[in-house]
Amino acid sequence: MADKRYLIAGSILSADLLRLGDDVQDALDAGSDVIHFDVMDFHFVPNLTFGPMFLKQLRKRFPDAVFDVHLMVDPVDDAIVDAYADAGASWISFHPEACPHAERMLAHIQSRGLKAGLALNPSTPPQMLSYLWDRLDFVLVMTVNPGYGGQKLIPACVRKVEDVRRMAVKETARKILIEVDGGVSAANIREIADAGARIFVVGSAFFGQKDRREAMRGFQKALEA
Ligand code: DX5
Ligand code: ZN
Repeated sequence: MADKRYLIAGSILSADLLRLGDDVQDALDAGSDVIHFDVMDFHFVPNLTFGPMFLKQLRKRFPDAVFDVHLMVDPVDDAIVDAYADAGASWISFHPEACPHAERMLAHIQSRGLKAGLALNPSTPPQMLSYLWDRLDFVLVMTVNPGYGGQKLIPACVRKVEDVRRMAVKETARKILIEVDGGVSAANIREIADAGARIFVVGSAFFGQKDRREAMRGFQKALEA
């Protein structure tokens, strides 16, 4: 998986929560490279989702899956990071607004052996990343305001993907792994890839579909075009 050009991350926010394990199995069978796990706290965003117990159970059933934990909580502290690390997270991202010492928190996530990323809300400027490049394994660019699945992508945020890519090359002379989250579909995935993203979170356009294999083929076809 590591050398795959593009990764698809099915977001369980749009799964059937009463059959979560089977839906994750279905997503992996359909070719989802990563399972995106949205953590919401009703404060940072107006919704409440999955605690670490859910992740622990999923990790038990899927020992080899890549679980991408997206923390939409405030505050982000060592305790919450450790709870999801202990439960089996592979990657953890958080929003800088919720953590005054982002550099230290990224280092803490990495010290747990996980990949660490920062998530940028639509109104969060990419300059936020400027002094953190060396600490970042990836950047998650939100293309909707976080809180719900099934929203429409905000086009200006695709330009932010380009800006992040350009800034990383200019300031560090290397590429940064960019993940895009919100409103991604077969109709816009190519344009987002062209802007510089390599990981695509898909909720309603994947888990929300009856035929997930067909949905996956749609993404792959668009990405190969
Ligand atoms: C939104 C979440 C997303 C969500 C995306 O706050 O962070 O991960 O699941 O869902 P879609 O793909 O339906 O926009
Ligand atoms: Zn997310």
